[in-house]
Amino acid sequence: MRTPILPSLLLLVAPANSLPQLAPPVAPPENPITAEKVMLGKILFWDEQLSATKTVACGTCHMPSAGFADPRVKLQPAAYPGADRIAGTEDDVFGSPSLPSVGTDYLYNTHVVFGIGVQSTRRNSPTVLNAAYAPHLFLDGRAEGAFHDPATGALISASGAALETQSIEPLLSHMEMSESGRTINDLTLSMRVMVPLIDAEAIPQDMSQFIGTGRYPALFERTFGTDDVTGVRIAQALATYMRTLVVTDVPFDRFLAGDSTALTSLERQGHDLFHGAAGCSACHSGPLLTDFDFHNIGVDPLIDDTGREQTTNDLADWGKWKTPGLRAVELTGPYFHDGSIATLEGVVDFYNQGGVHAAPNLAAEIVPLGLSTAEKAALVAFLKRPLTDPRLVQEVAPFDRPRLFAESSRAPLTFGQATAGTGGIEPEMVLVEGARRSFTITIGVDRGLGGAPAGLLSSTSFHPASVPFQGAALYVPYGAGTRLDRTVLQGSGTGKGFASIRYDMSHFAGAVVGTRLYFQWLVYDPTSQGRLSASKPALALLY
Ligand code: HEC
Ligand code: HEC
Repeated sequence: MRTPILPSLLLLVAPANSLPQLAPPVAPPENPITAEKVMLGKILFWDEQLSATKTVACGTCHMPSAGFADPRVKLQPAAYPGADRIAGTEDDVFGSPSLPSVGTDYLYNTHVVFGIGVQSTRRNSPTVLNAAYAPHLFLDGRAEGAFHDPATGALISASGAALETQSIEPLLSHMEMSESGRTINDLTLSMRVMVPLIDAEAIPQDMSQFIGTGRYPALFERTFGTDDVTGVRIAQALATYMRTLVVTDVPFDRFLAGDSTALTSLERQGHDLFHGAAGCSACHSGPLLTDFDFHNIGVDPLIDDTGREQTTNDLADWGKWKTPGLRAVELTGPYFHDGSIATLEGVVDFYNQGGVHAAPNLAAEIVPLGLSTAEKAALVAFLKRPLTDPRLVQEVAPFDRPRLFAESSRAPLTFGQATAGTGGIEPEMVLVEGARRSFTITIGVDRGLGGAPAGLLSSTSFHPASVPFQGAALYVPYGAGTRLDRTVLQGSGTGKGFASIRYDMSHFAGAVVGTRLYFQWLVYDPTSQGRLSASKPALALLY
């Protein structure tokens, strides 16, 4: 037997400070970590086909380069306007765009905030890095350690399986990935015929090797011994992949291990403030920099989302949110459950002024701190390099991934100008799905005149400069060679009309891959300038 190396390792752990070092995450006994499960989980995490529109994967909102939070959020205005439904106000949430509200018939339902367009999550996407360590997940902690079979309700794991519990929810949420009313059995049935990652590009080699020529049942067989695709197995594979998404070797860890050169003097000063005068470690404690508990720190006016209270129904939990771990926090902005603060400098200012909203249960530590400019800079420095794993930014293994359909040139886009209807409101083209020849996709129009007749023009040719037609700027030629799908808008009133149709892409079966397809909605609108209003045209590549 070999001499255990533990004693010499322990010697290395000279106490630079009192924090213990981070051990690898523990999996529940019912779901041991295997290489196959990691690989299957990774494939599932990145497969957009698991969403009703085939355009949203887990990874869409959890991207490595953004520290497994959502990079898109930084580039656009708040996607969810909050309870007041007015953009640009205090209760806005920088949520993640997902998919339109898809009905059981795959037509799009209208939503009071999003219309038939792409919806947004009502919370800012948090990181999934180191989620493997959390006893409860989601920002209100509603995913607990006991995991039940989503199909039968049978108890699968009694504890330690918050990741398994959590991973089912987005798959069945019509705000995130599913059509309304989808059950886990609907999903698993549809997955039996899927070619994994069919629409992804630049698939890492180990993933494409594992897929080979198999469909999902073959991959489940290799992973679990039989080819059943079940909700439990999906959750277990996703959870296992996420147990590998850990940041455990950053300068802060080397510092904890006793390497006093691991931090620069500024970072060290920030570390000492964090664990000292600034009082951060009252909540951001231990090697993960979280107590996994819930606190009201005065982030928002709380007229909409009340956090932990939504799970416990205990008024004492009003406005409390889970303390996030801070590893890789440099990459995961914007910050807080509503994404209301864009930068770490802003977060430190927030704490320095003692929060922004008073509350009866505001945490006692949230008071003005009186930090100097230099001290604030030191705190920010500690939150950046010492906690960041550079492999994330570069998206290299284990943080590598395929390129998603939604990031590809095959994702449809709109261009040109719309022609406004009554009230100056422009009808909106809603086209998110890919133009794969074998698909039937949904194409919608929003914000037209309620009750008005409308038509979708589709063609392989278009007028680059648009031509006037009955008062509308027409990009897709009207007449021979163009298909016209007629419908009548639902809803009533100016700008309140919407419709969607199912469009069978086999219409273009004769065209070669890469053919450009053009779509444009015309809405009859007799009181507008001409007789027609029109959406912007959309372009999709046939594949
Ligand atoms: C449309 C964006 C979106 C998609 C798609 C999505 N998530 Fe999330 N994820 C979020 C948001 C927003 C939250 C916070 C939700 C809450 O607290 O109520 C979250 C929370 C989580 C958490 C909990 C993190 C924590 O610290 O508590 C994990 C883990 C997670 N998601 C994994 C997944 C997995 C696995 C999938 C795919 C099955 C997925 N997500 C799909 C946006 C998304
Ligand atoms: C009373 C407990 C508490 C104290 C003290 C505290 N925090 Fe927090 N921290 C939280 C909670 C809870 C959140 C999540 C709030 C939310 O989502 O709205 C948070 C969020 C953050 C975030 C945003 C992370 C993310 O992913 O969005 C950063 C950064 C942060 N804290 C840093 C600090 C620093 C620096 C200090 C000291 C100046 C500090 N915290 C003090 C509880 C605390």
